Amino acid sequence: MAATEAKSAILVIGATGYIGKFITAASARCGHRTYALVRDTAPSDPAKAQLLRSFEDSGVTLIKGDLYDHESLVAAIKAVDVVISAVGYAQLADQTKIIAAIKEAGNIKRFLPSEFGNDVDRVHAVEPAKSTFAVKARIRRAVEAEGIPHTYVCSNFFAGRFLPTLGQFAASGLPTDKVTILGDGSVKAIFVKEEDIGTYTVKAVDDPRTLNKILYISPPANILSHNELVSLWEKKVGKTFERVYIPEEEVLKKIQESPAPLNVVLAIHHSVFVKGDQTNFEIDPSLGVEASELYPEVKYTTVDEYLNQFL
Ligand SMILES: NC(=O)c1ccc[n+]([C@@H]2O[C@H](COP(=O)([O-])OP(=O)(O)OC[C@H]3O[C@@H](n4cnc5c(N)ncnc54)[C@H](OP(=O)(O)O)[C@@H]3O)[C@@H](O)[C@H]2O)c1
Repeated sequence: MAATEAKSAILVIGATGYIGKFITAASARCGHRTYALVRDTAPSDPAKAQLLRSFEDSGVTLIKGDLYDHESLVAAIKAVDVVISAVGYAQLADQTKIIAAIKEAGNIKRFLPSEFGNDVDRVHAVEPAKSTFAVKARIRRAVEAEGIPHTYVCSNFFAGRFLPTLGQFAASGLPTDKVTILGDGSVKAIFVKEEDIGTYTVKAVDDPRTLNKILYISPPANILSHNELVSLWEKKVGKTFERVYIPEEEVLKKIQESPAPLNVVLAIHHSVFVKGDQTNFEIDPSLGVEASELYPEVKYTTVDEYLNQFL
């Protein structure tokens, strides 16, 4: 970062993805010089073209590049101070290529690998989620082995992925009469709106308190058990739903019998709603910090507020 610049320049890899677009937008909104590494700067898909136009309108610079084109990665990384990866499931293991490029470029002050979920060093997941979490943990170890300054963002559940179905694993919308709950529904999970994940992530990049730490995004008003979530919705709509509880043994059997990707989704729901992997530990201050405590000025959207859009 140049001495005259107050905020780091940020490169987002995976900027066009589900969570990447919120992080990219937040970076530009928060006044960072922002670059998006994109594979195609003139996509034929109108929605993607529109997204790139909206990036450019907000001051984001598009850089053509690819995870699998080392020279393009190094050149893009040399232009910034901070790299945020938001690549998806299929590219998680290949983030070793970003690590190699960061080492070669030699200028990066902070790397945020693609995490944005549970704390993968503290999960009790079964397959196939177990292997996915293990890939993210291996990337953590590779980052640490190379001595790259980092922050791991554990954003917990994306609200937009879970609240439109009230957390039901295979539902296409909100309940009409019955609601399916894994386990006994008493385990707490955490739901965070994507814009807030973007804001907290970007606030962390220049913050010495998050250096080489895990940033947990666990806003207190958004920590709810599945039973509490259902009750909250019932109160809003003035109706009660029949709660269908699926015991853990049955959940495990369903995971084994389900085809991909439903088995992955179910195994993630099992980790969170049955095992409590988002809330079954205290944050160890030597390892992590909590975002809403660090940044009380961020007025995050509560689950209560979020659900109002569905009324
Ligand atoms: N907590 C939760 O509720 C939750 C839910 C879902 C995901 N996640 C996590 O969030 C993270 C991001 O997942 P996502 O679902 O947002 O990802 P996604 O929508 O699948 O987006 C993937 C991004 O990676 C880019 N990409 C793919 N191949 C690339 C390559 N060769 N070079 C450069 N870029 C490439 C894609 O670009 P193109 O546009 O060019 O394809 C896209 O921008 C993951 O770690 C995932 O596990 C968390």
